[in-house]
Amino acid sequence: MAARIHCIVGARPNFVKIAPLMRAFAQHAALAPELIHTGQHYDVEMSRAFFEDLEIPEPDRNLGVGSGSHAVQTARIMERYEALLREAPPRLLLVVGDVNSTIACSLVAAKAGVAIAHVEAGLRSFDRSMPEEINRILTDQLSDFLFITSPEARENLMREGIAAERIHFTGNVMIDALFDSLPLAARRETPRRFGLTGRAYAVATIHRPSNVDQAENLNGVLRILEGIAAELPLVVPLHPRTERRLVDFGLEERLRAVPGLIATPPLRYLEFQDLVRQARLVLTDSGGIQEETTVLGIPCLTLRPNTERPITITAGTNRLVGTEPEAVLAAARQALATPPPEQPPMLEGWDGRAAQRITAVLAAALAA
Ligand code: UD1
Repeated sequence: MAARIHCIVGARPNFVKIAPLMRAFAQHAALAPELIHTGQHYDVEMSRAFFEDLEIPEPDRNLGVGSGSHAVQTARIMERYEALLREAPPRLLLVVGDVNSTIACSLVAAKAGVAIAHVEAGLRSFDRSMPEEINRILTDQLSDFLFITSPEARENLMREGIAAERIHFTGNVMIDALFDSLPLAARRETPRRFGLTGRAYAVATIHRPSNVDQAENLNGVLRILEGIAAELPLVVPLHPRTERRLVDFGLEERLRAVPGLIATPPLRYLEFQDLVRQARLVLTDSGGIQEETTVLGIPCLTLRPNTERPITITAGTNRLVGTEPEAVLAAARQALATPPPEQPPMLEGWDGRAAQRITAVLAAALAA
C-alpha cells in the first residue's frame, strides 16, 4: 500500500515549495500525497493564483483558519488539524518553511506519534524577535527527516542536538519551482504591463512585521522607496499586511504619489518571476526572493539586519543592507554602478532536482 503523506501548505511561500514536491510524490507509486491547506492565506492573489500558476492540485482539505494573532492562528490550525489527523492518521506529515502552519501541524503530529519531514530545515537568522525563527527551531526539534538546502544548516542543526542521520542535504525546492516555471514566466511580458519594456527598473517587496508594523519603521521604508524611485522606475507589489499598515499610518497616499513608483497588488507567481528575472535591482525583506535572485544573478539588497540564508551572500548576489535609509540608498547606488554578474552562480543542490532527491529519501524510508 502506498504511504499516505499529509503535505501542509498555509502561506504564500509554502505554495511555491510544495509544487515540485507534490509533482514528484505523485509520480512515485510508493507515496500517496494528500494536500492540506490550512487557509492561513486566503486572498485570491495570495493563494489561488499560486495554485494556478504552479499547477498545484486542488487541496484535499482546507482548514479555513484565516488571519488572527499568532496564538489564535496557531491554535486554530492545531485544533482543526488534530481533528483531521484523528480521522485517518497518515504515515508522515510533510511541512515546508517556517510559517505558523508549519509549526502548528508539526506540534499536533508529534504528539499523535506521526513522523514528520521538514523541508528547508536548519535555516537560522539567530534573531528570535522574528516569529519565523521560533517556528524553525521548534519544527526542527520535532522532525524525523530534516531536508536542508545548504551546508551550514547541518551545523546549525547539530549544534541544537539533532542526530546526524536525520539530516539530508537534498537542495532547494524553491529553485526547482523557479526552474520549472521560467519558460512560462518568460512569456508573460510583465514589464510591458507596467510600461517598462526595454527600461532598467527595480522591484521591491516589504512585508516583515519589523519593517511595517511600526509607523517609524514603515516611514523609513517609504523614504528608501522614494530614494530608489528617484534613480530608476520601481515596481512595488504590496503584501496585504503592508497595504493595511500604510492605510493605518496614513502613508498610503504618499506612497501612491511617489514619481516613478508603481504600487500594485501582490503579483502572481509567474508575473513576479518574469519581472524579477529582468530587473536591474531587487530590494526585499523576503527569504525566498534572496534565493531566487541568487540563481537568476540579479543584484539583491536585503532590508534586514540578518539573514537565515547566508549562502545567498557568500555565493550569491545578495547584500544585507539593514533599514537605515541613507545606508540602503548608498548601497543601491553602488549596486547600480556595478555591472551585474555575467553568469549566475551555481550552488550545490540548487539545480531543479531537490524534490526528486527528497522523494527518493522518503520512498526508501517509508518502504522499510
Ligand atoms: C506569513 C509568514 C511569513 C511569510 C509570509 C508570506 C508566519 C509567522 N509568517 O506572514 O513568514 O513570509 O506569510 O506572505 O506565518 N492577510 C490578508 N490576506 C491573506 C493573508 C493575510 O489580508 O490572504 C492579512 C491579514 O490581515 C493578516 C496579515 O495579512 O493579519 C498577515 O497575515 P499572516 O498570515 O498572519 O502573516 P504574514 O505577514 O502574511
